[in-house]
Amino acid sequence: MERFAGLLQQLPRSKGELLRALHLAQEQLGWVSKDAIRLIGRHLRMTDAEVYGAATFYAEFRHSPPPKTLVTWCSGPSCRVVGGDRLRRILEVELGCQLGENGPDDEWGMWLGQCNGTCERAPMIWVNGRVVGPLTMVETVKLARRIRAGEDVVEWPQRPIKIAPATFVDAEAVYGGDEHGEGAG
Ligand code: FES
Repeated sequence: MERFAGLLQQLPRSKGELLRALHLAQEQLGWVSKDAIRLIGRHLRMTDAEVYGAATFYAEFRHSPPPKTLVTWCSGPSCRVVGGDRLRRILEVELGCQLGENGPDDEWGMWLGQCNGTCERAPMIWVNGRVVGPLTMVETVKLARRIRAGEDVVEWPQRPIKIAPATFVDAEAVYGGDEHGEGAG
């Protein structure tokens, strides 16, 4: 918190710096805590409610401590067009938590991410900040089970290829959904 407070002081005291300040909190603390909201408000001369309003408007800001294993699901168009929504459904079932939630005891959690510019690895997730992909549906199931088992997935193989649409067929039998991948909310 001390380091965050110090870096915050370096930002200009203008409301226009609000998003930068929130990103700074998440980078430094892993989440946007109530204490961080108070500090930001004081520095930018805004009320806590104003800061809280912005922090809760944008889905990428977390309001609870990050899980031990943070799975970030890419919501970008390149990932979604090659099966990203199916990946999300599989992860929600296998990890037992919805997007934007932590699992039991905060051991793992799945949170929203935006395109990070490595679309050639779509469809992908990040595990503790590391890109894992492209993932087939079957690999996604295995990966989720390894995360649940507390295994290190850093060494997960990376293949610079895109998955074939045929890969989706088996996953549909298990997880359901329509043929365009829009079936789950
Ligand atoms: S859309 Fe997922 S990395 Fe670009």
